[in-house]
Amino acid sequence: MNAKKIQEIYKELFQETPKLFRAPARINLIGGHTDYNLGYALPMAINKHLFLAINPHDSGFDITAVNFEERVRFQLNNNAPDPLWAKYLHACLIALAQQGYPISGLRAVIGGTIPLGAGISSSAALTCGFLYAINDLFDLKLSLLEIAKLAQAAEHQLGVNCGIMDQYAILFSQKNKVLLLDCLNLSHTYFSTQLSDYQFILINSNVPHSLTESAYNDRVATCQSVLAYLKKQAPEVETLRDVSLSLLETHKTAFSELQYRRVRYVLLENERVLQAAKALEKGDNHLFGKTISQTHEGLRYEYEVSCKEIDFMIDFLKTIPSVLGARMIGGGFGGCILALVQADDIEIIYKKLATIYRKKFDYAPDLIRLHSDDGVRSL
Ligand code: GLA
Repeated sequence: MNAKKIQEIYKELFQETPKLFRAPARINLIGGHTDYNLGYALPMAINKHLFLAINPHDSGFDITAVNFEERVRFQLNNNAPDPLWAKYLHACLIALAQQGYPISGLRAVIGGTIPLGAGISSSAALTCGFLYAINDLFDLKLSLLEIAKLAQAAEHQLGVNCGIMDQYAILFSQKNKVLLLDCLNLSHTYFSTQLSDYQFILINSNVPHSLTESAYNDRVATCQSVLAYLKKQAPEVETLRDVSLSLLETHKTAFSELQYRRVRYVLLENERVLQAAKALEKGDNHLFGKTISQTHEGLRYEYEVSCKEIDFMIDFLKTIPSVLGARMIGGGFGGCILALVQADDIEIIYKKLATIYRKKFDYAPDLIRLHSDDGVRSL
């Protein structure tokens, strides 16, 4: 499915030429579950895309999702329409209306190449792409950051209390660059990577994850409960960024073992992001790989958001010298592994992995070769 195809389908349906937009998926090199704790993350957009063919229309919304072969028509003040993708779009329109931008109608065809449930933010590509297109078509003059916040608000409406990393990365990324994102100040710096003969790959476990699962919101709530307590104890604390390991240690007895363990993971993960960013910039692939593997250990044992299929693959990858590091990405409980691998060995490693994985779980993983890409664009 490519942009041209989406445009053709639109033309056939509506006999007019639409504007075209492209929104990428994202990966997060490191910084798992730090964003809603206002920490650091290191994401970048990748070469998997959602395409939108779209034009304003006088009365109501008429939207077709080609990948699902579904077409939905609704008015802004209707209840959210049924398929999940349409609920996301409706939530974007509600978020816009709440900010004083009621949109009365449009026609759109959407589709693309982002695998669903893979932890690479198909939903944020949808919301950010849609809002970006509306901003352009209706000349709303919203900044990229305002669009990111609206897209995040749409996710919140649907019950996922996510941070802003996905939306930010999908809107602000630049090809051949990685973003060091500071979720407290909502600012970023770009830098290039020097991987020499190594490459990042994704391996999709094909275990579908669902972020609406309460486990994600539970993690958010646990971190917030620790923060609320520490705020009362230490006046300098406003966010978890103000909490040092020693402060957490001092108040350890006030927390359950689980609260302590989760927040300790977040504090250490923020340190790892900064360390990994430096390693990447210097071209120290070995240190970078080691750091992302430590992140996975944290996600697996401390934050407890991994799953047996992902851990099985990570355990295998750990035994291979030309894999410098690997971790699960995204919200957790399925989706993709990101690995830093010697380029020449990618095929052979994937083949071995696919064989033992299929033997154990009876279904196959997918290899996704990736490169960094630009954020949302009009085409
Ligand atoms: C999901 C959420 C993000 C972030 C990641 C974990 O992708 O949407 O906000 O919390 O999980 O890092």
